[in-house]
Amino acid sequence: MRTAYVGLDFFVIKDLWYKNAIVYCLHVGTFMDADGDGIGDFNGLENRLDYLAGLGVEAIWLMPFQKSPRRDDGYDVSDYYQVDPCYGTLGDFVELTHEAEQRGIRVLIDLVINHTSDQHPWFQEARRDPDSKYRDYYVWSKKKPPDANEGMVFPGVQKTTWTYDKVARAYYFHRFYDFQPDLNTRHPAVQDEIRKIMGFWLELGVAGFRVDAVPFVIQSKGPGVKNVEHYDMLRDLREFLQWRRGDAVILAEANIVPKNDMQYFGDDGDRAHMMFNFQVNQHAFYALAAADARPLARALEKTRERPATGQWAQFLRNHDELDLGRLTKAQRERVFDAFGPDKDMQLYDRGIRRRLAPMLNGDRRRLELAYSLMFTLPGTPVIRYGDEIGMGDDLDLPERNGARTPMQWSHEPNGGFTRAKKPVLPVVSGGPFGFEKVNVAAQRRDPDSMLNWTERIIRMRKEVPEIGWGDFEILSTGRNDVLAILYGWRNNEVLCVHNFRDAAVEIEVRLGGPGRASLVNLLSDDHSDSPSGRHRIVMEPYGYRWFRVGGLGYVLDRTPF
Ligand code: GLC
Repeated sequence: MRTAYVGLDFFVIKDLWYKNAIVYCLHVGTFMDADGDGIGDFNGLENRLDYLAGLGVEAIWLMPFQKSPRRDDGYDVSDYYQVDPCYGTLGDFVELTHEAEQRGIRVLIDLVINHTSDQHPWFQEARRDPDSKYRDYYVWSKKKPPDANEGMVFPGVQKTTWTYDKVARAYYFHRFYDFQPDLNTRHPAVQDEIRKIMGFWLELGVAGFRVDAVPFVIQSKGPGVKNVEHYDMLRDLREFLQWRRGDAVILAEANIVPKNDMQYFGDDGDRAHMMFNFQVNQHAFYALAAADARPLARALEKTRERPATGQWAQFLRNHDELDLGRLTKAQRERVFDAFGPDKDMQLYDRGIRRRLAPMLNGDRRRLELAYSLMFTLPGTPVIRYGDEIGMGDDLDLPERNGARTPMQWSHEPNGGFTRAKKPVLPVVSGGPFGFEKVNVAAQRRDPDSMLNWTERIIRMRKEVPEIGWGDFEILSTGRNDVLAILYGWRNNEVLCVHNFRDAAVEIEVRLGGPGRASLVNLLSDDHSDSPSGRHRIVMEPYGYRWFRVGGLGYVLDRTPF
């Protein structure tokens, strides 16, 4: 196996925290309500930092909490420099970043700069006054562009990408909903504003940005304009960020095809530090649905390349729909059949709007399989709040809100999320996923709970830096329904095996070579010893294994070469 990243010396490795961290994402508004108004707030989150530290979380990514009419869950910002009063004050935010730092938890925040809310003063000024300097902050057309009915991100809900504004007497461009006018991000003045926004939040203690909708941010925009992506903009953002704070990162949301990955990372690792691996995400769901790991293996190969300092963020579910748009039609249908058969579970002709636990019928074996897989994919894992207890969803809520219900802390009214009668979104109640059954307090007490399982697997994941840092090889197992990945880094190797089939299987992996005679199971007792390095492993239905190759002496030997 190749030795990865020989160019990075030990001290650099210690600094690149994001290459191997446990990230947890949440929305302040649905996590914990301290003041009893029904909406989660910074104080509530601050009170729960010990919970997150206990779980082993090293960074949190907060969905937008800036001032906003909240018509797209805060992704419609009306003031970049204010916290929405319903979540607290800027002072509360600084207390939060400070308290998080005390516990070794970094705070990443969303940076939504593709568009503003239509209520943003820039847009209000721009539409009122054609001579205002803000007019050019947005993208206008006198006539309705012929392609106005193309390129909608939310098909079925969003009708057009150009909407007429009576006050401006012109059409404005909006890649997303009509209340989210696109910023003219190629305009130097807008770029200055973006830098100022980043600088502001960095001063308040944030450790980086999850940059929303990156492909659209860096595109040229305008009537009849060909959508060309300007990757140099990513380098500019990166440079500015690094001047202001050396260890801060850009985590790009870019659901792109693998051939463009390196454009986003930059050949020299000079653009985004991290990107969500949408390619692997969608094929992982296909593997779970069809018990066929081959397309997932191909997706891993296609996204193998990244600069030494670049990293994938590996995730299962996030706050949006599970987007299956990159699968073939037949693969997508297969995932729909398994995990979202009803029309009401599907969204935007391409995705599923459910949480993971209900998709897997709450089957603990499959949940463990899915998360074990996520924690062992090449990259940095990103967990979504509530997944550690197997929370469900509420499909009565519109669009993506179904999977955004409040955190379930206890069996108390409203799951202990709020003292108010009416929470911002209803807490899932009754049935197999209701707060009465699924909550943190109950799971804390049960050593076999999903929560305690997650805590244990995170602890082990942290002891396996090979996954974040190493190079990987996909091994043949003689079966299509099993994925075996061997990681190697600094004279240490770890083998991770996942059985996607609802049946026991036996596999053979041929490791060969000196020092590979023994596989030590890191999660349970059944080790494998084979002097020839040919290991036969029996896996239970939906079974998973993490093996350290050649014994547990790894802590003694982390020499680079
Ligand atoms: C991103 C976000 C999504 C939001 C959209 C518009 O895709 O993940 O939640 O609606 O951008 O900002």
